[in-house]
Amino acid sequence: MTAPATANPRIIVALDGPASSGKSSVGVAVAQRLGLRFLDTGLIYRALTALAIDAGVATDDQPGLIALIPRFELRDDGTGRLTQVRIDGRDATREVRSHEVDANVSALARQPDVRAALLAYQHRLAEPGGILMAGRDIGTVVLPHADLKVYLDASVEERAMRRIRERGLDPSGEEAEAVRDQLRARDAVDRGREVAPLRAADDAVAVTTDGMDFDEVVDLVARLVTAAEAAKPKADPSVSEVAKPKDTPSSPLRPARPADAPAGPEKRNRLLDVAMRLDNDQTMLVRMVARVTWWMASAFASVKIEGLERIPRKGAVILALNHASNLDAFVAGGRISDALRTRRIHWLGKRELFDWPFFGWMCAHGGVHPVNRGTADVEAYRLATRILERGYVLWVFPEGTRSPTGALQEAKDGVAQLAIRAGALVLPIGINDSDLVWPKGRKLPLPFPRRRIRVRVGEPFLAADVLPPSADRRAAKTAVTTAIMGRIAELLEPRQRGVYASAVREPVGDEAAPDPA
Ligand code: DC
Repeated sequence: MTAPATANPRIIVALDGPASSGKSSVGVAVAQRLGLRFLDTGLIYRALTALAIDAGVATDDQPGLIALIPRFELRDDGTGRLTQVRIDGRDATREVRSHEVDANVSALARQPDVRAALLAYQHRLAEPGGILMAGRDIGTVVLPHADLKVYLDASVEERAMRRIRERGLDPSGEEAEAVRDQLRARDAVDRGREVAPLRAADDAVAVTTDGMDFDEVVDLVARLVTAAEAAKPKADPSVSEVAKPKDTPSSPLRPARPADAPAGPEKRNRLLDVAMRLDNDQTMLVRMVARVTWWMASAFASVKIEGLERIPRKGAVILALNHASNLDAFVAGGRISDALRTRRIHWLGKRELFDWPFFGWMCAHGGVHPVNRGTADVEAYRLATRILERGYVLWVFPEGTRSPTGALQEAKDGVAQLAIRAGALVLPIGINDSDLVWPKGRKLPLPFPRRRIRVRVGEPFLAADVLPPSADRRAAKTAVTTAIMGRIAELLEPRQRGVYASAVREPVGDEAAPDPA
């Protein structure tokens, strides 16, 4: 039999997250909007549990459970959602949500051989592509080569509150407290189990939904899927999908381990869990990290900071800094953190930072939140907006990357857009001469001769203060970007003002801005 030459295989999306994070409802909505199939893998574990209860098989009798697998089936409800459960040919869709199944399913889901045996079943369902698969271990174990992995999370309080509202309970009553306790207990089981514990895959896009409404989450996930679909390489129509070996690295269906091998404990970067939370207080750990960064900076240069008293004590603030050296976050971060007293600085950092020994730990406990490189812009913007909407302090380098010359380079418009949309105060900060101590391109800093790094904090301002009266959106963004960068330039020596030298309003100190002509 010859296999037909197929069109471009459609995207495969892994959507993981804890109980009640909205995986199913968000997954269904995104799948419907984009014409994808949808499978909630929790149904598989539920179906097997219902079968085991019926057949009197214990939840730890692995050979007995594996023998039951051929007796259930998931069916399409006619819209591409695999939501119908059939057991021995009869409809068991309601039955799998019973209290009895609820009470037994986690014990069954802990059995390594059962999980391994269910892999083949899940691969078969994903194989045609065009599917969004939700669960706990889809990105880590089931589809480690999925085109896109999304990890949907929310704090226990937020998830519990959604359930409490759904059930119309009194949030301060005993029943509401029981909901919170149950969720905490389920989280502990899902995250703590030895086999395929719940965790974000290292290359997953983390979406924390606290404070977002349902439509916002659906919009965001749909945009991530659309972007990943656009980035997916086109298939070579001369090669049939069936003919392709399934174990090549490009196959999204390659299991992390052979299906018949016992599943071992997952390598897990727990720091990412810490970093995904949007905590805002200055804990002892945050203070300690600030202190350590300060010591590290002082080891390489004598650092002087002026204008700390201008740091706003309340409300959303964007700290906007020039970026010329790896030292920048250290020289300014520690002292500004101190000056903020009870609030912490929130930073966005690439996910890979958390894999570094010690430094990764400092990032996670120091307020750095991970963004994925591939979708960094959408994700970073979203996360930054949420930080500001909550009235927190966000650190940004508007230039995006370090300047190779030490002088200001063209900035991106994203910061201006944030300042306009969030109505946050912008605090310009100029870091002078860090590039002389650790220039871009050098592996290590140059502590000798010992130099001075001068950090100047400017006056906070609002985007509204600098907006031209009748600007369209694009002109408004450009005007605000120029104002932000001009005010940073004013805090820098002329050598470092670069492309924003002409945006300086007045000369600072004794030195005149160079004539832009
Ligand atoms: O999402 P849910 O509550 O329907 O999941 C039911 C159970 O199945 C729950 O105990 C977690 C488990 N599960 C799992 O271990 N791996 C998956 N991919 C999906 C669900």
